[in-house]
Amino acid sequence: MATAIPTQVVIFGASGDLTARKLVPALFSAFHQGHLPGGTQLIGVARRPWDDNGFREHLAQTVGKPTEHPRWAEFLGGVHYVRTHLDTAEDYRELARALDAAAPGPVNRVFYLAVKPELFLPSVAHMHAAGLLTQDGTNGPRRRVVVEKPFGADLGSATVLNQNLLGLLGEDQLYRIDHYLGKETVQNTLVFRFRNALFEPLWNQKYVELVQITVGEAIGMENGRGGFYDTAGAARDILQNHLLQVLALVAMEAPSSMQAKDIRDEKVKVLRALRSLDGLDARKHIVRGQYEGYRAEPGVDPQSQTETYIAARAYIDNWRWGGVPFLLRTGKHLPARFTSVKVQFRMPPHTLFGGPDECHLRPNAITLRIQPNDGIDITFDVKEPGQGLVIQPAKLNFDYAGRFQKATPDAYERLLIDVINGDQALFIRSDEIEQSWRWTDSLRARMRETPLHLYGRNSWGPFAGDELFGECEGRWVQG
Ligand code: BG6
Repeated sequence: MATAIPTQVVIFGASGDLTARKLVPALFSAFHQGHLPGGTQLIGVARRPWDDNGFREHLAQTVGKPTEHPRWAEFLGGVHYVRTHLDTAEDYRELARALDAAAPGPVNRVFYLAVKPELFLPSVAHMHAAGLLTQDGTNGPRRRVVVEKPFGADLGSATVLNQNLLGLLGEDQLYRIDHYLGKETVQNTLVFRFRNALFEPLWNQKYVELVQITVGEAIGMENGRGGFYDTAGAARDILQNHLLQVLALVAMEAPSSMQAKDIRDEKVKVLRALRSLDGLDARKHIVRGQYEGYRAEPGVDPQSQTETYIAARAYIDNWRWGGVPFLLRTGKHLPARFTSVKVQFRMPPHTLFGGPDECHLRPNAITLRIQPNDGIDITFDVKEPGQGLVIQPAKLNFDYAGRFQKATPDAYERLLIDVINGDQALFIRSDEIEQSWRWTDSLRARMRETPLHLYGRNSWGPFAGDELFGECEGRWVQG
């Protein structure tokens, strides 16, 4: 890892929304907290006819709060702009010259592709041809490329994209981002599981009855996303990536170290063990929905069959999880934005309280609240004080905000710092991407055999969603 030398962070798509909303605020935050090597630069790349000042002016108008910080002007000193047409080979040679000219000496470079997915491969091919990806030996300055999602649209396209990209640069240079992996609580999943002797012994099919994971959103098609979203749908937009990444961390075996290879080896085993939905009864495993009014959204086909809600009952066919349902759900226009993992434990083997045939509400669950109100809840039953035996639920809860009086860094900040430091642990390897598409493709193929339920905005999605739970297995959590 060559972290001592500065990095030029080159953002392709510098005039876009992601740059203004996430990337620049994240870099600025890392900068003013001293997390970046001195001399680190941000180089914006786009088609607009700006110079450095024009780009700085654009940032001043679009980035928001960070521009009020006393160190913003100092940060801007390291901000440059190179006008580049991404389909023009000569422009990349010019970019190479401009980057050399701006560099204070030897630099690492991170090329962040915040552009449309169809531009990933052509831009990397042009960078390669212009010599921008060439690295000297193992100790020389590093050249790294960050690729946003979506990475492919199915297994076939993701595999071809992997092959083509890996013909131009090494896997160690390629950072496939899933910003969920940068969220504190997602990372905390590994600490919670593998640092505490208390929970891990119970974390398997012997004690766990069911796991449910939700990525719920209150928003819909804001920021003109209708056109893109209508070609993607909830299964591709969130389930294939964010949901399956959270599932992998919840279900993986302990890695032998926190090195990227060991973590990714374990995650990919989980993804590989996900049972394909081929040959299963689609209606018992998949529920899809579309919120009312979706077809009238700008950019959306008035006859669209695209799902804005998807719920699935998945199984991980391995020793630890054999037979345990993993219920996955995501939807737009739900009543709240919340992401959580609820691990529900079995009833004790012998029922002392209540009849054996009663469909008890399971007393024991661990809920990892990923966002908002990050934290962890543990529930159990207690005896209510007084005569007789009245049993009541109780809860222990841990809140990040209460325990640590400091702001949680944005996911992008953590991930950008990791790329700058050359740590790939929180990025997705090619085989992980392919395995998650393999399963998602099987789901999407079967999904078409299920009805597309309409659901009201601000509701918890189709009622049919709860039918994925078996008798006595409970139901979806609501916020
Ligand atoms: C993106 C999806 O990857 O994640 C969006 O494309 C979604 O549709 C977003 O809104 C959710 O991210 P977060 O961090 O707000 O939960």
